Parts: sequence; C-alpha cells; structure tokens
Amino acid sequence: MGKVKIGIIGAGSISQFHIHGYQQLPDVELTAVCDINEERAKLAAEKYGIPHVFTDFNEMLKSVELDGVSVCTWNNAHAPASIAALKAGVNVLCEKPMAMNAGQAEEMLKVSKETGKLLMIGFVKRFEDKTQLVKKLADNGEFGDIYYAKIGYTRRRGNPGGWFSNRELSGGGPLIDLGVHVIDLVRYVMGKPKAVSAYGNTFNKIASRTDIVQTGDYKAASNQGEDINNVEDAAVGVINFDNGATVTLETSWVQHVKEGQTYLELYGSKAGISLEPKVEISGEKDGMMIDWAPVVSFNDDFQTIFDREVAHYVDCIKNGTICRNPAEDGVEVMKILDAVYESAETKKDVKIK
Ligand SMILES: NC(=O)c1ccc[n+]([C@@H]2O[C@H](COP(=O)([O-])OP(=O)(O)OC[C@H]3O[C@@H](n4cnc5c(N)ncnc54)[C@H](O)[C@@H]3O)[C@@H](O)[C@H]2O)c1
Repeated sequence: MGKVKIGIIGAGSISQFHIHGYQQLPDVELTAVCDINEERAKLAAEKYGIPHVFTDFNEMLKSVELDGVSVCTWNNAHAPASIAALKAGVNVLCEKPMAMNAGQAEEMLKVSKETGKLLMIGFVKRFEDKTQLVKKLADNGEFGDIYYAKIGYTRRRGNPGGWFSNRELSGGGPLIDLGVHVIDLVRYVMGKPKAVSAYGNTFNKIASRTDIVQTGDYKAASNQGEDINNVEDAAVGVINFDNGATVTLETSWVQHVKEGQTYLELYGSKAGISLEPKVEISGEKDGMMIDWAPVVSFNDDFQTIFDREVAHYVDCIKNGTICRNPAEDGVEVMKILDAVYESAETKKDVKIK
C-alpha cells in the first residue's frame, strides 16, 4: 500500500484536530476536504494544502480515490456520511456520538460488516495515557469486581453554540455530547459489560433564556441552527449492567454549579479508583487502608490524544491492526443514551436489549 489517502467530511472546529493528527504521519496524504459550507472547505484546503474541495460527500466519494475519511460533521450527518463512505469502499473514523440514535448506529455497523470496511468511533479519551493505565490495572484484577461507578461531566456555561443545541442537528444536548465520553470510558474500563436498563431525567430550566452567555472554551465553527435551543441543559441517569454493576451519571452544559467537573470513580471489591480528574487508588495492604497514585506525568493534552487516535486509525487501515474503538461499542453507548432520553420522557425504567 502506498500513501494512505484521507478525506475530511466536515471542516469545522474538531476537524482541525484530526487534520493535525494526519499531518504528523509521513505515510498519509490529505487528499480531499468536504463541507456543505464551501467557504469553510476552501479555507481548510488552503490552510492545509488539501488539493480537492467538495460540498457534497457523495461527489467526493465518486470523484477521488480514498482509503479513509474522518467524519467530523454535525451529528445528524454522521450516519449518512459514514454509510456512503463504507458503501464506496472507504474506511471511516466517525466522531462521537456515533449517530443521532441507536437505530442509525446499528445500520452503520451493519453496513461496515457487509462492506468489510473499518468503522472506528472517535472515543478519543480512550487514547489518554491515564485511561490506558487504569484499564490495564482493571484488566489485571487490581480493583477486583467493579460493582459501582460514578461518572459526571458538568459545565456551568459550556454549550459549544451553533447546531449543538438544535435537536434536529445534534440529537440532544450535554447527554449526547459530553455524557457519551464518560459513559464510553466507564464501560471500557469495566471490561464492556452489557447495559440492561437505565433510568434518567433531563432538565431544561435555564439555557433557553436568551440572556445566558456561554463562556466555555470550545466553540462550534458554524452558527447554523443556533436560533433554536430545544435540548436539555442537564441530564442525570442510573445505568444497570448485566454483571450487576450500577453507574450513576450527571452531565450539563448549563447549571448553577460553582465549577464544572469531569469525574469518573469506580468502586471494586479490592480497591476504588478515580480516573478523572486524576488517577488515585484507595485500597488495602496488610490489613491497612492505603491510598496510592502513580508518580508519572501523563501527556494527555487535547491535541496529543487526537494525534494518537488518528495514528491508530491509519495503523488499522494500513496494517490491519485490531481497532481499539470498534463500532460495536458505539452502538452500545447509543443504546444507553437512547434509554436515558426515553426514561426522561416516560419517567420509567427502560430496558436495554
Ligand atoms: N471527540 C471530541 O472530544 C469532540 C469534541 C468536539 C466535537 N466533537 C464532535 O465533532 C463533530 C463536529 O463538531 P464541531 O465542533 O467540529 O462542529 P462545527 O460546527 O465546528 O463543524 C461541523 C462542520 O460540519 C459541516 N457539515 C454539516 N453537515 C455536513 C454534511 N452533510 N456534509 C459535509 N459537511 C457538513 C458544517 O458545515 C461544519 O463546518 C460533532 O459530532 C461533535 O460531537 C468531538
């Protein structure tokens, strides 16, 4: 195989992090970029020296030969763009959330199996060194049976703007945007147990006020759809797994919380562990309670983890390496998100198949 030819679908904020990752790899050629906003696609092409520009991903897939694409569009285009690429014989790295709902995600997985092409999901936090360390410790049985976890990703004012709060384009608010990261991480570290039910609630008490100013660092490039805010400000949930474990979840874009937090705490029969915001372990030794933490400085900054994710994707394409983020995991996470949203509407515990 010569150079791996890559196309970018969706040239907004997150695509820059993918592009940087590809640029670090000598065996990759950034061949084409596509955005429904032509100006944005052209800007990316000029800035990064990408020769072919498109405004329609079907045209791109017909016109240029590609080995892989990064799907970095609004959530509503993840399924159509990924399916079109897979059907054209092109591998896909699709941003999180995998799709708008589990039905779409299952269809994407089906097409990936039928075509034999890779569908990798952008669960980028799996590429943090601290995640890999904790995963290794969990797999080695250091924590015993993990029976309970608490996960949260909250922001005081952190709606990224634009399409993010428009349900037609996003599928939901902080639950599908931020919750997805910690739900995936906790499943991953716990050894991917199967979710069997969820109870949840969502709230929309603050963000639809027009005087709320969002102060988060991350901003969508496009302001399309920003006149509509019909998603939740915050969500909570309780998720039960087939191994008897329970996970509690909270997430928000807008909440009167002093400081937003990302936390992920797992409790096992041998030890408890915090993965987020930092790695700390509480256990026992020789009949004593002990706390310990690894003495390493993790290099897990935002760009670095994208560089690792993209390098892994290219390695999978080039060398057939087993994918760390397979589409099956994306489907399972979408089922959990769907169940929490459904429970918020029905006020009932929702079974997950
Ligand atoms: N992994 C992470 O940590 C992380 C962080 C931020 C965003 N994301 C995800 O990345 C995706 C993009 O988010 P963003 O912040 O870059 O948004 P953005 O608005 O900055 O960029 C999205 C781009 O996609 C384009 N687009 C929309 N539909 C398209 C289509 N059918 N064909 C081609 N282009 C299309 C838009 O015009 C826009 O330029 C979202 O799914 C988001 O959830 C992931």
